[in-house]
Amino acid sequence: MSISENAPAVHEIVPVIHPSVVDAVDADVHRICTRYAARLQFHGWHHVSFVRSKAARFAVLNGAEVSVVETAALVHDVNYLVRRNSSAATGRRLRLAILSRAGVAPHVAGWIDRIVVEAEMATRGRDISLEAQALSDADTLFKSLPVTPVVLAHRYLEENGIGLRELAEKICGEQQDKQDEGYYFYNPEAAAMYTRWATANLQLWQCIKESLDDADVEELLDAVNAHAVVAS
Ligand SMILES: [Fe+2]
Repeated sequence: MSISENAPAVHEIVPVIHPSVVDAVDADVHRICTRYAARLQFHGWHHVSFVRSKAARFAVLNGAEVSVVETAALVHDVNYLVRRNSSAATGRRLRLAILSRAGVAPHVAGWIDRIVVEAEMATRGRDISLEAQALSDADTLFKSLPVTPVVLAHRYLEENGIGLRELAEKICGEQQDKQDEGYYFYNPEAAAMYTRWATANLQLWQCIKESLDDADVEELLDAVNAHAVVAS
């Protein structure tokens, strides 16, 4: 037998987190999302599973550690269960508890928590780790989908107890500078595929913000909301 027959295949990469452990995190987060679905109208399982799937793809593209990125995606938004309208760091204790229950080693769990915080839209910078880039691109893509403002924006308002003006100011305030400075998406393929959607989405929210300064639009929304209260 030659030496080359005994050598491990070059392409055989051992994941940092065993697939059975990723599955355990998946099952736990799915259970939590199902149990608290009424409180996670925007950041529920539909969001988590979309971000996990896209983040894994972006991780393959940019060479990040895929099992760590997938697991980070599964636990990235648990802060919304701890407190409405909160930052990623608010979910640290719950995030680490979920990872510990599934058998993720403490130093890997700490790494995942740092990735989640690094990838947060409000504070992310140009130079973040490859793992945070993959997670960020997936989460940012969800925000940029043309369907998100149509079918999910009202759910964000309800989940987080904020008004339309506050959401429009949050989106424009947190996202416009990333687009202007060229790191809205980190992965060039993601940027090529989705920048048009992101641009349209940011323009829509800028227009929403402007429209709210029109007294007649304000009156219109008051009337709509009054009707919604009576109907419910
Ligand atoms: Fe998210």
